[in-house]
Amino acid sequence: MPNAVIVGSQWGDEGKAKVIDYLTERSDIIIRFQGGANAGHTVIVDGKKFVFHLVPSGLMYPGKVCIVGNGVVFDAEQFLCEVDELNDSGISVKYRLFVSNLAHLVLPYHKAQDNASEASMGKGKIGTTGRGIGPAYADKANRCGIRAGDLVDWDIFVSKFKQMFATKKQLVEKFYNTEFALNETEILDTYKKIRERMLPFIIDTATYLYTATQNKKGLLFEGAQGTFLDIDHGTYPFVTSSNTISGSACSGCGVGPTVIDHVIGITKTYTTRVGNGPFPTELNDAIGEQLRKDGGEFGATTGRPRRCGWFDSVMIRKAIQLNGITRLALTKLDVFNNLDEIKICTHYEINGKKTDQYPSTLHELEKAVPIYESLDGWKSDISGCKKMSDLPSKALAYYNRLLKLCYDVPALILSVGPDRTQTIEITPLD
Ligand code: IMP
Repeated sequence: MPNAVIVGSQWGDEGKAKVIDYLTERSDIIIRFQGGANAGHTVIVDGKKFVFHLVPSGLMYPGKVCIVGNGVVFDAEQFLCEVDELNDSGISVKYRLFVSNLAHLVLPYHKAQDNASEASMGKGKIGTTGRGIGPAYADKANRCGIRAGDLVDWDIFVSKFKQMFATKKQLVEKFYNTEFALNETEILDTYKKIRERMLPFIIDTATYLYTATQNKKGLLFEGAQGTFLDIDHGTYPFVTSSNTISGSACSGCGVGPTVIDHVIGITKTYTTRVGNGPFPTELNDAIGEQLRKDGGEFGATTGRPRRCGWFDSVMIRKAIQLNGITRLALTKLDVFNNLDEIKICTHYEINGKKTDQYPSTLHELEKAVPIYESLDGWKSDISGCKKMSDLPSKALAYYNRLLKLCYDVPALILSVGPDRTQTIEITPLD
């Protein structure tokens, strides 16, 4: 398979894991390049549900190699829990799961700082996952982070850890005026054990990937979150702390852009968002409630109910521009099965002016009023459809209109249910 990057086109939770699962079958190596345990990927195989926060879900396929790249902020405790869960299910990760020695560690004090910071922000809070993501990326940029490779030499780790622990204690107690309920000795004891278990996983992943490309291995770069949570291009400050767009795959893994052949934008056929920030097509009514219920829209990481709304083509056009999307992978069309009417946002009206382009500032986005087109619902169960011709004509009309509004980018697949088998293949990667 050509080398491909997978990104979410919206605010995350587009059903990436299912598409990753589909493409993993056709790849050799799957690499996560940004984010951390704030992501939550749910995969259902033979009716059994797995939720991954950190390890690439490609491990579900025997023989595939999975890598956590340097762009990820790495929570070793969470990682080892997921490794245990996989081992308990009879899925061995030995010799096929690696972590970049350059990935920054998320340590318990990052979570304490994340929660203290959110609590201090009152109404302006971001609604983070509380997984310490922002503080870990901030330490990386501030050049005081501790990396996975630092675990190799225990004395180096201890000395760096002690220095940062003292700094964070000061910050949480003195600046945020909050209790810092962490015990340095206990954390070091835990990390001594973690270190032993982590050593076989930690390698120079950039070199590994270079050799793999020379050997014509098929690479799948797995993004987390979504385009509009990107720290530069998203709805700042209501974003995550990494670049989530496709370009980030290169810096987050240490590969050059010439390695990438395709960019796949995972796109839910409606829109959801977890956490705070503007959401023009949000439905605060019975239909929004129905989408949440029928779509099972509750956060995989925090369990929070997701905000739901109509499909917003203005957003997706921007996502296509930002990521260079070559295929859309459309998910969850079956969630509309029970609706009489389905709306698509085609344009926004901002300050009385109609526009088909997504505004680049939060200020303008907050004023955006969606302009909708209305289509008939199909009122039947499409979850058993195996090919496009099985779809009712009204479902096909919705699909066609959606693609037309998205610069006619071809669809890779259309997903009509959570299981691996409920996937209609449309335009394969060439
Ligand atoms: P953080 O990434 O935990 O700092 O959270 C920042 C924002 O990104 C919050 O609005 C979160 O709800 C959102 N967020 C982070 N990870 C995900 C994800 O995987 N899916 C959806 N939203 C996410």
